[in-house]
Amino acid sequence: MLQLKQKFEQAGQAHVFKFFDELDDSQKKALVEQLEMVDLQELDYLNKTLVFAENTETGIDFEKLIPAPYAPLPEDKNTDTKWLEAKKVGEDAIKAGKLAAFVVAGGQGTRLGFNAPKGLYKVTPVKEKSLFQVFAEKILSASKKYGVSIPWIVMTSHINNKATVEFFEENNYFGLNKNDVIFFKQGLMPAVDLNGKIILEEKGKIAMTPDGHGGCLRGMVRSGAIAELKKRGIECVSYFQVDNPLVDIIDPYFVGFHLLGKSEMSSKMIAKAYPLEKVGHFCMLNDKLTVVEYSDLPNEYQEQTDENGKLKFIAGSVAIHIVDVNFIEKLGSSQKDEDRLPFHRANKKIPFVNDNGECVKPEKPNGVKFEMFVFDALPMAKNPVIIEGFRGDEFSPVKNAEGLDSPLTCKNHQKAQWRRWFANAGVEIEADAEGIPSINIEVSPMFATNQADFTKAWNELPSKPSIADNLYLQ
Ligand code: UD1
Repeated sequence: MLQLKQKFEQAGQAHVFKFFDELDDSQKKALVEQLEMVDLQELDYLNKTLVFAENTETGIDFEKLIPAPYAPLPEDKNTDTKWLEAKKVGEDAIKAGKLAAFVVAGGQGTRLGFNAPKGLYKVTPVKEKSLFQVFAEKILSASKKYGVSIPWIVMTSHINNKATVEFFEENNYFGLNKNDVIFFKQGLMPAVDLNGKIILEEKGKIAMTPDGHGGCLRGMVRSGAIAELKKRGIECVSYFQVDNPLVDIIDPYFVGFHLLGKSEMSSKMIAKAYPLEKVGHFCMLNDKLTVVEYSDLPNEYQEQTDENGKLKFIAGSVAIHIVDVNFIEKLGSSQKDEDRLPFHRANKKIPFVNDNGECVKPEKPNGVKFEMFVFDALPMAKNPVIIEGFRGDEFSPVKNAEGLDSPLTCKNHQKAQWRRWFANAGVEIEADAEGIPSINIEVSPMFATNQADFTKAWNELPSKPSIADNLYLQ
């Protein structure tokens, strides 16, 4: 205890003990446990580089950025030799049980204004399935198709872990084998005030916030998830975010490109819908693949066009990756700076106790939270591969309560996707100019998760349902 106090004093953080003598024994114990988790050296470094730094700019020389190369979508995936070869390699790996699914679901969903883990959000148009149910059914459907169990790793945070696990329990894991769903909590970082002092949230508690989705790398190592995957013979994971029900989780083409390219971390790109779409941009910087966030890339670069009038930085990052288990293990366990993800700062409103020991809820940002981003692993990956995805089949996130990327746009995009699949199978459903059908429809992932499987399943139906409002195919 004395040693701990000294360490915090030397680091200029002695104030965390300010109310220590007022605490009861269990509160004292809890605070000591929290403090023991803090890496003071790391915090000192973050204060120097991110909190006190005069220049908070990214340091990127934008003139040096060039668009990252990617494998563009062919006219027809099913006749293109390269894509067919990738599909075969991917299918073989999936059938051999080398792939696991991995969702990062530790975020707080503040923008959506939903007061529960985001994965519980009801997202489908007819059955109002939750995001987690949609993902579970996609994984279940793929494991049936390929005749193999596909483990699913779910990263939660200390804030939403309990509610998430309870939701899976209450819903019997949506038909998945309970042993195939592996939860782990992402790590925490102390939050500091604008002077770099650790914030006391209560007299006996310091403010700790989730370490960003990039925390998944060390979280997977520390929690033992990586060891479990290795034990099961898993070689790579299909990484996705909790907000996008359109994600094609088990995509043999993508797995195949990753394996054929001997890549450690691969990504899907989607052509940006409009110049200032709020996505990361795949760029090359000094020969390294890098994602530059929309918030870091000045508008003039986001809007730049080439000689044909096409957006220069068109490759949007939709946070869909295939990542090697060995690469995660290397980065997640490394002590070397060059193998570790950098931290970014985010200014936040963080409740604190004032000098009188009263709890205060600040009106404006008073503190700094430290986060890692998973895409910062790309410059460290060998042979990173990017392939293009078709937006209508891959990406429609639920981020905001209204407007762009909202529950409404997402429902419409799901319906438009299914209407396209119907049309391809020879069934026309009336729609508006954007392809959104005039009736409410839903296709369960258990029926089909892509166009080709839909046509097959539809043709095999012994009796076809009538096409009417609230049609549900399962
Ligand atoms: C993110 C990406 C952006 C990409 C876009 C695509 C960042 C900084 N930007 O933006 O490049 O184009 O998605 O939709 O990531 N999460 C955790 N733990 C955390 C923080 C987040 O698990 O501590 C998870 C969330 O649950 C969510 C995902 O990470 O699944 C994305 O988080 P969010 O903060 O919503 O990212 P965006 O700003 O939307």
